[in-house]
Amino acid sequence: MNVLILGANGELGPHVVRALEGRHRLRLSDINELETRHEYLKVDASDIDQVIAAADGMDVIINLSVLRKDRRLAFDVNARGCYNMMVAAVEHGIDRVINTGPFYVVAGPTYERFDHMIGPDVPHQPGTYLYALTKSLGQEICRVFTDSHDIHVLDLLFYMFLDAETHTVESGSPIANIGHDLVPYTVSWGDAADAFGCALDVELDSLPSRSEVFFVFPDLPHQKFSNEKTRRILGWEPKDKLDQFWKKAKS
Ligand SMILES: NC(=O)c1ccc[n+]([C@@H]2O[C@H](COP(=O)([O-])OP(=O)(O)OC[C@H]3O[C@@H](n4cnc5c(N)ncnc54)[C@H](O)[C@@H]3O)[C@@H](O)[C@H]2O)c1
Repeated sequence: MNVLILGANGELGPHVVRALEGRHRLRLSDINELETRHEYLKVDASDIDQVIAAADGMDVIINLSVLRKDRRLAFDVNARGCYNMMVAAVEHGIDRVINTGPFYVVAGPTYERFDHMIGPDVPHQPGTYLYALTKSLGQEICRVFTDSHDIHVLDLLFYMFLDAETHTVESGSPIANIGHDLVPYTVSWGDAADAFGCALDVELDSLPSRSEVFFVFPDLPHQKFSNEKTRRILGWEPKDKLDQFWKKAKS
């Protein structure tokens, strides 16, 4: 498939590229310059004309773009960017869009006190945190488009990423060694990236609706969240078992 990636130059982008290259033709885009052997376009996701032009000839759009703190830019990228992406999908007859965000787009603060098997189809309660709220608005914009257009949106939600070899979590965060707690929604970069391959492979007709949300993390002992839907519908099978990082340190 011909796949446009928005925001390809972030933390997740290179992992997704590695998982998809060789199987799909990739057109990478970002507001920042990017060194790559794939086709690259400089695209501001908040600029509708640029997004429409970038989507020309594509079969799928993957949206990895995100802006977390600046009030205006967060709305421009996270919410308006989704509107632009969906307009571009309509314009070019693209029927598959893969959107991304943090898990609290759905399961925000009001779910914090619940601690068992929270799935991605709970009523959305992102709270008022700018990042979650603007990403949630973006997701809702995508969903509304699927009401009126024959476009399928698969929302892949993440939280903490872990390098399965070096045992480090996110840049700048402390090293997670065996014996320390792990966030109950952690996934290796490689497994996270593999979910995009599954979202590209899945038959659109097999999806329950044109707008589906998936939690992406492996089985973890705490079972605060559930990945059952992601395994069942996308056929996603995480390779990196993270149980070893879960155990409490002995004092
Ligand atoms: N990294 C994490 O810890 C984490 C956790 C949960 C969810 N996610 C989600 O995963 C996805 C990818 O996140 P990431 O970690 O790669 O983010 P990142 O911040 O590392 O990268 C985001 C990318 O978006 C680009 N961008 C910013 N403004 C843009 C614009 N106007 N137009 C085009 N591109 C623009 C940036 O240049 C950057 O390359 C996002 O949807 C994010 O919400 C990430």
